[in-house]
Amino acid sequence: MSASIFHTVHIALAERSYPIAIGAGMLGQSATFADLPAATTAVIVSNTTVAPLYAQQLQAALAGKYPSVHLVTLPDGEQYKTWQTLNTIFDALLQQGCDRKTVLFALGGGVVGDMTGFAAASYMRGVPFVQVPTTLLSQVDSSVGGKTGINHPLGKNMIGAFYQPLQVVCDLDTLKTLPARELSAGLAEIIKYGPIADLAFLDWIEGHMDQLLARDVSALAHAVRRSCEIKAEVVGQDERESGLRAILNFGHTFGHAIEAGMGYGQWLHGEAVGCGMVMAAQLSCELGLVDAAFVRRLTTLVQRAGLPVVGPRLSVQDNAGRYLELMRVDKKAEGGAIRFVVIDGPSRAAVRSAPDAVVRKVIDACCA
Ligand code: NAD
Ligand code: GLY
Repeated sequence: MSASIFHTVHIALAERSYPIAIGAGMLGQSATFADLPAATTAVIVSNTTVAPLYAQQLQAALAGKYPSVHLVTLPDGEQYKTWQTLNTIFDALLQQGCDRKTVLFALGGGVVGDMTGFAAASYMRGVPFVQVPTTLLSQVDSSVGGKTGINHPLGKNMIGAFYQPLQVVCDLDTLKTLPARELSAGLAEIIKYGPIADLAFLDWIEGHMDQLLARDVSALAHAVRRSCEIKAEVVGQDERESGLRAILNFGHTFGHAIEAGMGYGQWLHGEAVGCGMVMAAQLSCELGLVDAAFVRRLTTLVQRAGLPVVGPRLSVQDNAGRYLELMRVDKKAEGGAIRFVVIDGPSRAAVRSAPDAVVRKVIDACCA
C-alpha cells in the first residue's frame, strides 16, 4: 500500500520544533520515519485494542531502521492511566536494556500517548519519542503540544511533564476502525477550536458535520489540519501554559469534574469536554459575555456530533457542591479559586473566576 501525505503542519518551538504529518497509509511505511535519529532499539507502546490492529504494520516499517523493535502492550482504558501502568513501561524498558537513544513510539489514543510521553520524559531523564495517534481526539489534540502525564485518584492529569515528541504521524486510515462513540469524542475537541480561535472554522464544522460523521477522508483531513494549525499557533506562543494555552481547556474544567466524579472511563474525555463546553458557554452567558443564541448554537453542534449536552448528577444531596469540590482540583485553580475558560467575544476566549452562586446556577441549569 502506498502512503499519501495530505498536509504537514509545523510546530515551531526552536530546537524542540517538529512536523505533524497528516495523511493515509503512513504508519506502515519506512519512509515516514526516515528522518528520525538512528538507535539500536525502538519500543512501540500500545494497548490491547490498538496493538492487534496496527502494531505489526508499524513494527515492519521500523524494522529496517532499528535492529530491535519491541512492543509493550498496556491494558486499555482511562482507568489505567496510572502510576501502576506507567511502571510497566519502565519495567519493559529496563528489562530490554533500553538506553538513552532508544526511541519510544506511542501507538494509540490519548491515553497511550500521554503515558508514553511521560515515560519518555522520565526514562533516563528523557529519551526521544514519536506520537502515532490513532483516535480522532489524539490526532487533533493530545498528540500535539507535549502535555504528557497520568491521572491521580484526586484529579485528572495531575502528574506529568511537558515533553515534546520528535514527530507526529496522523494516519487517517486508522480512523476507519474507530468506534462511533470515539469519533464523536474527537469531534468535541475539533468543535472547541471554533469558539476559542476561529469562527470561520466553526462555520465549516457546522457545514461539514455530516461528512465528518461519515468519515469522509477529505473532511477529516481538513479538520485535523485546521485543529493542529490552531493548536500549533497557541503552543508556539505559550508552550508551558503560563497564559494563552489555557484557552485550549475550554469546557475542560466542567469536563474534568464529570470524568472524575463519574469515575474515569465512564464518560469519555471527549464526551465530558463536549458537555463541559455547553456548561462553559452557559457560564459565559450568565456572566454577560455571550448571548443565549451562542449557547444554543454550540449546544446544537455538540448534540449533532453525537455528544451529551446534559451534565450527569454527581451527588444526590448537593450536585453543584460536588462539581465545585471536584473543579477546585484543577491545574488552572489559583489559591483554591476555580478559573474557567469563557468565551468573551467572536473567536475569543479568556480565563477568569466566577462567583460560586453563578457557577451553581449554571450547574443546576445544565444537569439532569
Ligand atoms: P483513548 O486513548 O482511551 O482511546 C479511545 C479508545 O479507542 C480506546 O479504547 C482505544 O483503545 C481505542 N482506539 C484507539 N485507536 C483506535 C483505532 N484506530 N481503532 C479502534 N479503536 C481504537 O482516548 P482518546 O480519546 O484518544 O484520548 C483521551 C485521553 O487523552 C484522556 O486521557 C485525556 O486526558 C487525554 N488528552 C490529552 C491531551 C494532551 O494535550 N496531552 C489533550 C486532550 C486529551
Ligand atoms: N489539550 C489542552 C492542551 O494541550 O493544552
